[in-house]
Amino acid sequence: MRLFIAIPLTPSFKDSLVQIQKSLDSQGVQGHYTRKENLHLTLAFIGEFPDPDDVLDMLSSVEFPSFSLTLEGIGTFGDLWWAGVQPSPALDTLARRIRRILAENRIPFDRKKFSPHITLLRKAVVTSGIPGIRVPAVNMTVDHFSLIRSDRGKQGMLYTEFGSVSCSE
Ligand code: 2AM
Repeated sequence: MRLFIAIPLTPSFKDSLVQIQKSLDSQGVQGHYTRKENLHLTLAFIGEFPDPDDVLDMLSSVEFPSFSLTLEGIGTFGDLWWAGVQPSPALDTLARRIRRILAENRIPFDRKKFSPHITLLRKAVVTSGIPGIRVPAVNMTVDHFSLIRSDRGKQGMLYTEFGSVSCSE
């Protein structure tokens, strides 16, 4: 089973991301746009692993306070376009604690440096000049994170929450 750990986003946060996607689309940026229900912020990518119950069990020992996440800016990794969030020590600490628990329990995960982003589209092709984007001021409270199962469906990726861990304060 393909697994990753992510922060699910609130409806209003997703609405703002969809607004950005629509704006990019209307300015001629083509590509595979992330469907609204799939928008998320990844904390750690595990990949194929047979035992999600074990992983969730380990993750339940991660303690973290609730914190605020604010949308800020957009950027690219090659042809992947993403939306960013304001720098957040609480977010970095959460990702670090999760990754430490995975490492201590020998759960394999992608060790690439944590670089918080929300993927808006992949395989982007700009067809008519550099788009001008206004990023809406939106924020949300993060009070849980989720272990998510990822399957390839007919309409693209299908993400299913396997379980979640709530904040301790
Ligand atoms: P991405 O959006 O930047 O591709 C599910 O694939 C989630 O895990 C996506 O948010 C994806 O990030 C992230 N992820 C991180 N490392 C990954 C990897 N090595 N392979 C696939 N997805 C990865």
